[in-house]
Amino acid sequence: MKRRIILLVLCIVSLNSFAQDAKMKTFVDALMKKMTLEEKIGQLNLPGSGDIVTGQAGNSDIAKKIEQGKVGGLFNIKSVAKIKEVQKLAVEKSRLKIPLIFGMDVIHGYETVFPIPLGLSCTWDMDLIKRSARIAAIEASADGINWTFSPMVDIARDPRWGRIAEGSGEDPYLGSQIAKAMVNGYQGSSYAGNTSIMSCVKHYAMYGAAEAGRDYNTTDMSHQRMFNEYLPPYKAAVDAGVGSVMASFNDVDGVPATASKWLMTDVLRKQWGFKGFVVTDYTGINEMIEHGIGDLQTASARALMAGIDMDMVGEGLLTTTQKSLKEGKVTLAQIDAACRRILEAKYKLGLFENPYKYCDENRAKTEVFTAANRKEARATAAQSFVLLKNQNNILPIKKTGTIALIGPLADNKENMPGTWSVAADFSKATSLLTGLKEVAGSQVKILTARGSNLDEDSLFEDRAGMFGKSLHRDSRPAAVILQEALDIAKQSDVIVAALGESAEMSGESSSRSNISIPKAQQDLLKALVQTGKPVVLVLFTGRPLALKWENDHVPAILNVWFGGSEAGYAIADVLFGDVNPSGKLSTTFPQNVGQVPIYYAHKNTGRPLAEGKWFEKFRSNYLDVSNEPVYPFGYGLSYTSFSYSDIKLSNTALKGNQTLTATVSVTNTGSYDGKEVVQLYIRDVVGSVTRPVKELKGFQKIAIKAGETKTVSFSISPNDLKFYNYDLKYDWEAGDFEIMIGTNSKDVKKAKVNWVK
Ligand code: BGC
Repeated sequence: MKRRIILLVLCIVSLNSFAQDAKMKTFVDALMKKMTLEEKIGQLNLPGSGDIVTGQAGNSDIAKKIEQGKVGGLFNIKSVAKIKEVQKLAVEKSRLKIPLIFGMDVIHGYETVFPIPLGLSCTWDMDLIKRSARIAAIEASADGINWTFSPMVDIARDPRWGRIAEGSGEDPYLGSQIAKAMVNGYQGSSYAGNTSIMSCVKHYAMYGAAEAGRDYNTTDMSHQRMFNEYLPPYKAAVDAGVGSVMASFNDVDGVPATASKWLMTDVLRKQWGFKGFVVTDYTGINEMIEHGIGDLQTASARALMAGIDMDMVGEGLLTTTQKSLKEGKVTLAQIDAACRRILEAKYKLGLFENPYKYCDENRAKTEVFTAANRKEARATAAQSFVLLKNQNNILPIKKTGTIALIGPLADNKENMPGTWSVAADFSKATSLLTGLKEVAGSQVKILTARGSNLDEDSLFEDRAGMFGKSLHRDSRPAAVILQEALDIAKQSDVIVAALGESAEMSGESSSRSNISIPKAQQDLLKALVQTGKPVVLVLFTGRPLALKWENDHVPAILNVWFGGSEAGYAIADVLFGDVNPSGKLSTTFPQNVGQVPIYYAHKNTGRPLAEGKWFEKFRSNYLDVSNEPVYPFGYGLSYTSFSYSDIKLSNTALKGNQTLTATVSVTNTGSYDGKEVVQLYIRDVVGSVTRPVKELKGFQKIAIKAGETKTVSFSISPNDLKFYNYDLKYDWEAGDFEIMIGTNSKDVKKAKVNWVK
């Protein structure tokens, strides 16, 4: 009976969407019949908006193009007033009155800024992540935006690559869950109303595997690795119904992604069933000239033929497509298909019904940067912090005594939101000093000093402080700046050192070949440790850093990434123990850059190093460093401690589609209530192709009170054992499997099962 009801509901839902699709088709067919070739090509154009000044947009170059029907949309324009003015040009002055779509890089919040995505991923809390995207959508839509260039789901295993900050780390399973949560958060359950915006998953594909971690660089890997390790999060976004996809800049397998028919059509549309539109990245088509694909006309034709629908900034499609059509280099069907997909996106968003649907001045005044949203961002930021070390329980700090807050990031608002915070108002962000003062209460004295500049090299510091995120370099001699800090350190009970990277040391075009804390700050840290006072390193970073020295010598390390507009408060909440940290790393922290790429789900090699050893001749290892990272994937401490029971299995010999239940008991053995992310890993011991030593297959974040024990069970089915084999067939293979459950990827309990077909 229940099944019949479900089937009936499914039938009604699909009939309904069939009817809606038919209605959309009728509408778009009718509109396209009226369109000239030029107008069709115009829809594919997403020019740079330049400086649109309210009240003067009508006189701009862009205005002329909009009136001529040569613009499909615009992006990164902020404010309802500006957007309304430009939309008016489209729907009042252009011949067919087709509305524009308005995009923006709403990456981790709008004006209320949430932690950078890498930090957000360390919450391992899908509801929280989804809510952060929902709030971002509500604020952005209140301010005129209806399309966001997010989520960025590029798997990244190379911390030299600055854009590792913008994604969810190294793991395809965790990355896929997050991709889905974010798409659902932005798009909501439908575009009815005006608080849901269209999501754009990026950068398709394999952008995170740039050789040598240098941005925009070539990627080249086996198809097996692509399908098992890099493509799953993009597919998860497609499965979640993402409305659009952004092509990546990089070369994949010898073809720039923007010209790859295999990626844009064969995999994305034919294999995965994607129905939305594909936009290039910023001048992605033009850059194919440098890639060596040909002139702008050739590059544009290649992009269109591959399945690209919209051209960001470069206007290659706008300026060359008519010629290419005449010369038989593209077909009318290809132009029509791309134009149709853009019109469909606008139709789905409801822009034909009401082009000003997202232009409600009242919403802009009342729904952006609200107290409620800021509260949520503060709580979310606290969940994203990862406690890397806490010797002798230095943390949490008592709300009495004297704290010396030292470091170039101690009192800086501008850097707190982190990279890609396009809509943020930095003046409204909270510095750590402000947050500490507010949360500390009246019994704590806080002294503060800079201690050092970000880096010795002022030119480096300029490059690392772009987009208004200066660290306000101190021009006094380094020794003077240091002495001032040591003087206040002497008077303190505890030193809080706010060090690490500036916000723009990660993000786009911010690759580093050295992934340590800059030397000027390391020198400061060493001097602070030498005072003999307890030191807490509050580490700001947009990437995994090489922290071997720090881990060996600094008693407490709290990694706070870039926590967003409310970071200052959230850090204080955790330092004082109002919130118990529960973040877990979504990327491995190496000992040094020479170990890169280092990730937990590696293959075994034929000569693996025995566990516990760090060197053996003729084994897979290094002469000068062990194979171990400083902090493994999934790692993160709490102010309390957890102990795990052995794994209980419902069965050890399974057949076919049976389900295995694996259970552990987790006890909070410390004196604080806390949250723990219980992680399930599986190893497929023997395969037709070599398989990773372990792969994340599930996790549960649970709250456990001090002294309490909770039982956590995972249901495992053959679906969880599937992988793409040598022929790229997605299936599972019978045999032995190791089931591992634990507090991080290294520290796990193990059990074995055999599973036959
Ligand atoms: C970035 C994209 C971004 C786009 C638009 C590009 O440089 O690679 O991630 O969405 O600019 O701002």
